[in-house]
Amino acid sequence: MRASTLAITLLATVAALAPSIAADDSIEVKQLLCAINKYRKQNNRPFLAFYSGLNGVAQTHNNLMAARNQLKWQFDDEAPLYDRIKDATKTDAWRATAQLVARGYASDDDFVKTMASDAGTKDIFNGNFTHVGVARNSTGQGPWWTQTLGYLADTQPTTVECPQ
Ligand SMILES: *[C@@H]1O[C@H](CO)[C@@H](O)[C@H](O)[C@H]1NC(C)=O
Ligand SMILES: *[C@@H]1O[C@H](CO)[C@@H](O)[C@H](O)[C@H]1NC(C)=O
Repeated sequence: MRASTLAITLLATVAALAPSIAADDSIEVKQLLCAINKYRKQNNRPFLAFYSGLNGVAQTHNNLMAARNQLKWQFDDEAPLYDRIKDATKTDAWRATAQLVARGYASDDDFVKTMASDAGTKDIFNGNFTHVGVARNSTGQGPWWTQTLGYLADTQPTTVECPQ
């Protein structure tokens, strides 16, 4: 199947609530995060920190795409991205949010490499975000990927240990 991608960026206003950043012990998520940060580094962009609320949003949307066999950045019965992020992260402090969705790539690395370089997605992938959540689901006519990005002012992204 031909791989395909969609991207959407939303801007939001600022509020002030400090969210907590959770570490994640899922190997799959860690691999995806490491792949993302590998290409961020190659493109001279700062690392993105894992954020469990963003990851929940990515996972839920990704499983919907897998269940419905449809590549979409928002289904009709889904709330707008910013509302889902606000609910899942319990903060309205996001200055910018974005989501990348894709299916049909051969590997996580292929998915991330394309997001980092494709004309339709590279500005988002390399954008001024601080936090990320990412999900892969290999069922149906996938694999499916959703990468959810957010920008929080005044936060220091934490790094994860990645295999060299
Ligand atoms: C993948 O998506 C399907 C359909 O929503 C779901 O049943 C399954 O649990 C998901 N798999 C993972 C690993 O999340
Ligand atoms: C990030 O923000 C800086 C400063 O506001 C701006 O100059 C730059 O173009 C932005 N980069 C991207 C990739 O959006």
